[in-house]
Amino acid sequence: MAAEDSRARAARKDDHLRLAPGSRPTGAHSEFDDLAFVHHALAGIDTAAIDLSTHVDGMRWSAPLYINGMTGGTTRTAAINRELAIAARETGIAMGTGSASIAVDDPSTSTGFRIVRDENPDGLVFANLGIGRGGDDVRRAVDLLEADALQIHINPVQEIAMPEGARDLSSWHASLEEMIAASPVPVIIKEVGFGLSRETLMRLRDLGVRIADVSGRGGTDFLRIENDRHADGGLSFLTGFGQSAPASLLDAPAGFPALLASGGVRNPFDVVKALALGARAVGVAGVFLDAAVEGGADALIVMIQRWLDQIRSIMALLGADSPAALVSTDLLVRGDLGEFCALRGIDAASFSTRSRATDSPD
Ligand SMILES: Cc1cc2nc3c(=O)[nH]c(=O)nc-3n(C[C@H](O)[C@H](O)[C@H](O)COP(=O)(O)O)c2cc1C
Repeated sequence: MAAEDSRARAARKDDHLRLAPGSRPTGAHSEFDDLAFVHHALAGIDTAAIDLSTHVDGMRWSAPLYINGMTGGTTRTAAINRELAIAARETGIAMGTGSASIAVDDPSTSTGFRIVRDENPDGLVFANLGIGRGGDDVRRAVDLLEADALQIHINPVQEIAMPEGARDLSSWHASLEEMIAASPVPVIIKEVGFGLSRETLMRLRDLGVRIADVSGRGGTDFLRIENDRHADGGLSFLTGFGQSAPASLLDAPAGFPALLASGGVRNPFDVVKALALGARAVGVAGVFLDAAVEGGADALIVMIQRWLDQIRSIMALLGADSPAALVSTDLLVRGDLGEFCALRGIDAASFSTRSRATDSPD
């Protein structure tokens, strides 16, 4: 990808920050609401017996929650990264930054990324780059943050909608191979809010990818953000394109090494539902960004601690002593999500009786 003028890129980052909150649907139907747990009144356990730690392809994370990649590269986004990093440090959750391509091309912008590691020297930090970068860029982005993992985002819908976006997506497969081979740390492939299909996950698996964040539709909407940057409304008729995080998790091929979920996560109940669909951890971008912008790190720390407490409470109710145990809960898959399953040949009914497989015989 040709190195774009860093001023243009910085302006786009600030545009994204400004337009992101208004892009999230308010009051619209969420496919997380198409999921309901079957209530078993005697299944509950002691909240003190719950271990929130989770395993993501050999890595142990202390909680199944992370701040997803968003910002960096401008004065404003550096200040936000600092607040996010302090919140991650104080709550012990993992955190990604926004795409570091701007810092790789123009090192004068690197402090806004580096601040994440400086504020959180022992934390779990992900670097982030878009697909289409070379092996040297991968190594520089990882070095800059002393990153524990590298998120590579694949964002075809956003690129096509972006006025200055890529128009030739045909080289992405080869680019991914090069980037994965160059990374000295585990790679997390992620979408940016349009979901990953079974076919995509299978192609990723064939490339050796072991961790994928489905980042589905229903939260921050980059189609809307990019359309708002077009004078003529751009591709606004594509609204609703892509799959939600719950649909992507249901669609995923069995045995994919480690799935992460993000996109449209509004509250701790959505987190628990994603874990019950097999995600090892759940990422939140827009909702945490709003809290950090409005009330700084202090407000975000309070929010994350409350979420972790409430995740624990819901797990106690469901009888799950670990995030992994949630995959034995009984889930009803209804509405649009049920229709998606029917059309994609997914046995949604099998999720409604999963606990019977682990019940001890009478
Ligand atoms: C302001 C903003 C900037 C973002 N920038 C990036 C980015 O640079 N790289 C990336 O992989 N995802 C980026 N994302 C996408 C998020 O990581 C996430 O996939 C998406 O927002 C869906 O999650 P949400 O509904 O919780 O916001 C950005 C999101 C926001 C809100």
